[in-house]
Amino acid sequence: MLYFVSSNAHKYEEFRRMLSGVADLGFVEAEYLEPQAEDLEEVVVTSAKWLSPYIRGPFFIEDSGLFIDSLGGFPGPYSSYVFKRIGNSGILKLMEGFKNREAIFVSAIALSFQGRIEVFKGEVRGEIAERARGGGWGFDPIFIPYGSGGLTYGELGERKDLFSHRGLSCKKLREFLEERWE
Ligand code: IMP
Repeated sequence: MLYFVSSNAHKYEEFRRMLSGVADLGFVEAEYLEPQAEDLEEVVVTSAKWLSPYIRGPFFIEDSGLFIDSLGGFPGPYSSYVFKRIGNSGILKLMEGFKNREAIFVSAIALSFQGRIEVFKGEVRGEIAERARGGGWGFDPIFIPYGSGGLTYGELGERKDLFSHRGLSCKKLREFLEERWE
């Protein structure tokens, strides 16, 4: 069994869907130590090393960040804190008056497997919507990935996996596991 460690059950659902047929995915619902660092890769590697002694067998974690061009990459590594404090309405307010609404959503996965930490990254360019559209969770209603025909993650439903930052990092994880998972 491969374990995903997170406090976010939405992420678990997405990974379970995307890894089906490759590995059975268990969920360890837990908070863990996250260093404050600008680079998401550094964040996940440090956290995975910290978690290793507590989890038996292979596991992975994931960290994401939304980097908005006209806000100088904000909220980036602080996305979770900013979402909790001001939510989508706060982001839309900050973006008022900006013509350039481009942003990048980044996902970094750290997999602890056979004594090593492997990293898989995914990045998707898109735009911040003018208003919240669709369901989903977190920033889903306000992020429009390029290639989706103008639909937000929230409006895409399960098709989000085909366009999302997590879809891309998970594709790399999937390819890695397809060669090595038994
Ligand atoms: P973290 O990876 O949980 O630290 O995510 C940072 C912030 O981005 C949190 O507020 C998440 O809710 C949000 N977030 C991460 N991935 C997604 C996504 O796929 N859709 C919507 N919001 C996301």
